[in-house]
Amino acid sequence: MGDAKMNKIVNSLLEWYIKNKRLLPWRVDKNPYHVWISEIMLQQTKIETVISYYCRFINELPTIASLADCSEDKLLKLWEGLGYYNRARNLQKTAQIIMNQYDGQFPNSYFEILSLPGIGEYTASAIASICFSLKEATVDGNVLRVYMRINNCYDDINNVKVKSRVRNELLSIMPDNPGDFNQSLMELGETICLPNGIPKCLICPIRDYCQAFQKGNYLELPVKYIKKDKPTEFYTIFLFLYHKKVAICRRKNVGLLQNLWQFFNISNKMSLSQVKDYLESNHILFCDVKKSISYTHIFTHKKWNMVSYIINLESISNISDVQWVNLVELEEKYALPSAFQPFKKVIVEELKNNDEA
Ligand code: ADE
Repeated sequence: MGDAKMNKIVNSLLEWYIKNKRLLPWRVDKNPYHVWISEIMLQQTKIETVISYYCRFINELPTIASLADCSEDKLLKLWEGLGYYNRARNLQKTAQIIMNQYDGQFPNSYFEILSLPGIGEYTASAIASICFSLKEATVDGNVLRVYMRINNCYDDINNVKVKSRVRNELLSIMPDNPGDFNQSLMELGETICLPNGIPKCLICPIRDYCQAFQKGNYLELPVKYIKKDKPTEFYTIFLFLYHKKVAICRRKNVGLLQNLWQFFNISNKMSLSQVKDYLESNHILFCDVKKSISYTHIFTHKKWNMVSYIINLESISNISDVQWVNLVELEEKYALPSAFQPFKKVIVEELKNNDEA
């Protein structure tokens, strides 16, 4: 694309962004702590969801020092529902590095920022450009979509070489306010050049320069090669209830969702009679067992296909290594990963019904 045209695109985007940018809590100042936390949260879920998580997080942990010092349980509770719990742990590792090695001041060079745990090229570029006005390009899914549509380009956006080319092209046109420019592209992708459904081309500030708008092929772009099916693991979830309390246990300190809380479970899916056999052969005394919901949780690299049973116990004597918690504690104290949240709902309903009965 010619320089004159590129300049027009840059100026139109900046003008549009200044007028239309959303007033988000992390945009109030350019504090790198705020931008960093919001960017990590934004990698996991939509802006609307992030706002409340972000405000609660900053309220509870207002400084890098408070994040560095907070207990793991408190941190994971603040992160509950966002998923990818190692990201929360990496936030704390990075906060500790900043306290110990940078005197509590967020580093202000791209490569220092990039060297911190949990911060990749995208996040380092976002912090560097928004907080320190450094000319770095943030190439996320929104930016790639806008770029591919403007240029009518059918390259695979999952290909690292394609991403790196887009990054270099954006760097070559980067204006003096890189934070605004990067955010204008992301914001355009989120609010106008939509990923699902029909983009709002009629109100797009750069549609006159957009080849996909002229051709009408925007729904075909961007192109992403489809990944193989994810492997599936099967589990049976035991929702043990005893005197209005439910049993939870800690996951191992390795692998997926390490150290987080979960309901007792075993590999493979069991039928009702297999569950009863299992309880009897482990000498677990129950009043009744009933089948409850099935739920499949999709992670980045695998799926968990789970079936659950509600088991009202007569005695807890042969169940070890569990914590018995009431509903309030389950809500307020223990971080339960999203994969187990549907079962928590079931427990809440069950205990309420028991109360009314
Ligand atoms: N999505 C992720 N980070 C963003 C930002 N800083 N501005 C707009 N959209 C974003």
